[in-house]
Amino acid sequence: LRDTLLAAISAATAPDALDAVRVEALGKQGRITGLLKTLGGMTPDERQVQGPAIHALREAVTTAIAARKAALDAAVLNARLAAETLDMTLPVDLPATGTVHPVSQVMDELAEIFADLGFAVATGPEIETDWHNFSALNIPETHPARAMHDTFYLAGMPADGDERTVKRVLRTHTSPVQIRTMMDQPPPIRIIAPGRTYRSDSDATHTPMFHQVEGLVIDKGITLGHLKWTLETFLKAFFEREDIVLRLRPSYFPFTEPSAEIDVGYTLVKGKRVIGGSGDDENGGWLEVLGSGMVHPKVIAACGLDPAEWQGFAFGCGIDRLAMLKYGMDDLRAFFDGDIRWLKHYGFAS
Ligand code: PHE
Repeated sequence: LRDTLLAAISAATAPDALDAVRVEALGKQGRITGLLKTLGGMTPDERQVQGPAIHALREAVTTAIAARKAALDAAVLNARLAAETLDMTLPVDLPATGTVHPVSQVMDELAEIFADLGFAVATGPEIETDWHNFSALNIPETHPARAMHDTFYLAGMPADGDERTVKRVLRTHTSPVQIRTMMDQPPPIRIIAPGRTYRSDSDATHTPMFHQVEGLVIDKGITLGHLKWTLETFLKAFFEREDIVLRLRPSYFPFTEPSAEIDVGYTLVKGKRVIGGSGDDENGGWLEVLGSGMVHPKVIAACGLDPAEWQGFAFGCGIDRLAMLKYGMDDLRAFFDGDIRWLKHYGFAS
């Protein structure tokens, strides 16, 4: 019996086969259990001989089963380890994560550059009153400049009431933040105001929603020289080049006097316009990047300040256009399509 059982134990190649042998030998109806039961019917002399023998048999079988079980468990574990190898050298498949949009990135860069020049960031509402967007900026109701702005007017506003609160528009530029800042805080003022602006216009270089950054300085003894130096310093830092050349072109805005459009020189490199160098050079040209001027005395007065005491300059600039120039993008509409392939192409998504 001992040999039969030990052979069965070593022949068991799976845990349940081994368990069947265990039941057969040591279970309630098992063969060794049966032998143990015969001890009671033996004479003391027989028991003296058979007892230790049967117990030794049980001991041997129990030990053999435990040993075989340990071996089988180890084999199962080894098989799993072999099957489930983990290659630690494989690249990790990271989940897709969001990145900063080029427009947000440029806004952050602007805030950083101007912070170094002592400018704070100011904000204003995108739903603006007609008064802040136009009238306070010296653009009265009948002014032809209004027609140039392709304004979105908001419906459902009462026809009468205070002009300053009643008629509402989606702001057509960030210039109303000039008004809000001058009315909110005493000079000296140095702010930029980046944000969304709206005009009813759409083609490769115009979207109904776009972004501008406004700049405003109000202090004593401010001149056009301060304006030029500030913009030159800003554009050098933004385009990361020292060879930035500016051209101030006389222009007209109702809220600045005198007014100047700022052109920046570019150089053609393999057919692409790269900011830098004089636009008058052989391979060069000029790109209009900013509107600017000395804040009109009427605007300063509309905000409750004395224009004889306070002067300043202001400028406004399209953020999306700045991003296009810096990163070499050519269709403004793609900025707002949310196409991950476009973002990846320009290195703004991974
Ligand atoms: N608000 C003007 C525009 O949208 C730009 C500008 C701002 C011009 C400030 C002069 C001063 O075109």
